[in-house]
Amino acid sequence: MFGALINYEQKEQTITLHYEKQSVQIQVLTNQIINVFVPFRTADHRSKAIEGNKECPTAYKLHRTEDGLVLTTDSLICKIYDNFLIDFYNADGVLLCADYRGKRIPRFTLQESFIAFIKQEGHEVDTAGSRDYPVQCVKQLEKGDCIYGLGDKTGVLNKRYYEYENWNSDIPDPHEDSFKSLYKSIPFFITLKENGVYGIFYDNTFKSYFNFGKENDAYYSFGSDDGNLDYYFIGGNSMPEIVTNYTYLTGRMPLPQKWTLGYHQSRWGYDSEETFRDLAAKFKEHRIPCDALHFDIDYMERYKVFTWNKERFTDAHTLLSDLKKQGIKAVTIIDPGVKVEEGYPMYEEGIKEGYFAKTEDGSVYVNAVWPGDAVYPDFGDPDVRKWWGEHLNFYTDLGVGGIWNDMNEPASFNGPLPNDVIFTDEDKASTHGEMHNVYGHNMAKATYEGLKKLTGKRPFIITRACYSGSQKYTTAWTGDNQSLWTHLRMAIPQQCNLGLSGMSFVGTDIGGFGADTTPELLVRWIEAGCFSPLFRNHCAKGSMNQEPWLFGDEVLAIYRKYVELRYTLLPYFYDLCRECEQTGLPVIRPLVLHYENDTRVRNLNDEFLVGEHLLIAPVVEQGAVKRMVYLPEGVWYDYWTHEAYQGRQYYLVDAPLDKCPIFVKAGTILPKAPVQMYVGETPNPPLILEVYPGTGTYKHYQDNGEDFAYRNGEYNEYLFRTEGKGEVKITKVHEGYAEYPEIIVNHINK
Ligand code: GLC
Repeated sequence: MFGALINYEQKEQTITLHYEKQSVQIQVLTNQIINVFVPFRTADHRSKAIEGNKECPTAYKLHRTEDGLVLTTDSLICKIYDNFLIDFYNADGVLLCADYRGKRIPRFTLQESFIAFIKQEGHEVDTAGSRDYPVQCVKQLEKGDCIYGLGDKTGVLNKRYYEYENWNSDIPDPHEDSFKSLYKSIPFFITLKENGVYGIFYDNTFKSYFNFGKENDAYYSFGSDDGNLDYYFIGGNSMPEIVTNYTYLTGRMPLPQKWTLGYHQSRWGYDSEETFRDLAAKFKEHRIPCDALHFDIDYMERYKVFTWNKERFTDAHTLLSDLKKQGIKAVTIIDPGVKVEEGYPMYEEGIKEGYFAKTEDGSVYVNAVWPGDAVYPDFGDPDVRKWWGEHLNFYTDLGVGGIWNDMNEPASFNGPLPNDVIFTDEDKASTHGEMHNVYGHNMAKATYEGLKKLTGKRPFIITRACYSGSQKYTTAWTGDNQSLWTHLRMAIPQQCNLGLSGMSFVGTDIGGFGADTTPELLVRWIEAGCFSPLFRNHCAKGSMNQEPWLFGDEVLAIYRKYVELRYTLLPYFYDLCRECEQTGLPVIRPLVLHYENDTRVRNLNDEFLVGEHLLIAPVVEQGAVKRMVYLPEGVWYDYWTHEAYQGRQYYLVDAPLDKCPIFVKAGTILPKAPVQMYVGETPNPPLILEVYPGTGTYKHYQDNGEDFAYRNGEYNEYLFRTEGKGEVKITKVHEGYAEYPEIIVNHINK
């Protein structure tokens, strides 16, 4: 396709190669990150995910060989041939990733005569065994390669043998393993090999396709309908290093406000002041900690964003400040669709300023969402983001604590938005085809920047749709799941892959959004869900209410136990957020992240780690009161009984309804706090260190949990060390914040 390599030019860390039919670029960003760029559409990258210049001064060598060029950094060797075929090796010369040279041979093709026959019963038939896209890349697969990442895609943890598409989609049907797309587009994946690991970030926002060996076991492919071939080859010595490098490029989740890690209660249908007052009272009455109540679309006047229904919420300001006095913050939903209505300020202002997406003939594009006919703010335009962000004072003036961005794929009830609707890409006109997958991302950016300016606090935003890099602005939830056991099971690989893809602060609708939960399902969901950074029970209008007190005393007691567990673990969760800001490593991690050489964890779908120290094996099968648990190397302690288990073995463990199997790694120093009814109920609580047998160190972080003062040094950082002899050595590594009144040390099994 590219022809023979004719010559090349080198300018600092960028090499332009001239092939017979096309000029291309290779850029060395760091020792471990190399960009491959074919400017099919634009001469520059125009990345929506990467902000700022990520090129680090890096020494590299380049020499011409008989059949091409060889580029060498301290960590990678990249051999480039005719037709722009590229192979990447590690510094020891081990092949990591080669372009596929063979003929594409689909493993499965259907004879024409069968197709009509099969279709009779209504089956969908995929007739094309292999597809070519205008932009694409085909790489070799090897025996044992496993593939992780790609954001919120459904199905199992390891994506090898599956195919997916990146096209942010609001699909109300129960999410199935076979879905190709969901709400988010994160074109990043990690290939774990028998003798190495690498990542690829394919920075293309058009509709994209990933076939991870489904077409043929010998290769995988990624491609798009349009745009540039623009990908980053990411090397590293381990999976965590790959995640750190990927988040170096696309950004990391900034430290959140501490209360956002508390419990959130939500329901589509909480539609009056009384409902919210009653909810707050019920949480107190039942002694269940709660930090946030969510206001779904019912708070608005006829689903118009930036309005409040005055009949059902006569005085939102007083309501929100009364809730705040009880420690409860309000999170309000905002959809992008602005109702078409004369006299409605958001609509009229947006029309006057030309802030909504347009059709090719220049008129404003209208589709429909909750408010009926609606128009779409053009968030790719910096002026629109600024406008939207400034208007958020409508919420912050009332004391709203966080914004929940929904329907931002963008969703549409009147058929899909045509690809040629005009949206802006920063300083130039673009199309829906290019900007669709970054619509949620840009809306999150607008919201983040607006909230930051208005409040000076760390903005709390939840989004449904996003792209690579959205972690800099927003947390996310996995959208409209259902009260199904399969969806509880799916939540584990989904959140693990989101974490590997840079999105660390994620969660599912606990109890399930659609359909009706059952007492047992709700219990098992809270047991697993209390480890999700975003800890929210949410369900749909029309489905059974699922507040914890509605299912009898046993359910209530178990529910309380796990919400309390979460509150005692808040210092640990907060430390993990701090770690994420610094390294990009997620809160929820698949076991393979830390035990990549253990083949038994590569396809483990029903266990996860919280940080490195806790292993969670929730019950995700109806009726189960025991489950099999695999523990990786080392010694692990049952969190509840403190019994020791030797790793690299399978165990059948007891898991009665009130027990979620949790294991703590030997040598762990687990920071805990006393239970509070909300974060900050006790302004400066003591720190409790739960010290497990073994040797270990632990870094602990403490600050005001609210604003950006920590960036000016207002924080404490401690290093705890245990050598298994019953003593914990505490060193303050950084001092800049109020002391704990007390640090209590509890030894386990001493
Ligand atoms: C969408 C959201 C859901 C919300 C509903 C009403 O379905 O995903 O969480 O409750 O809209 O706003």
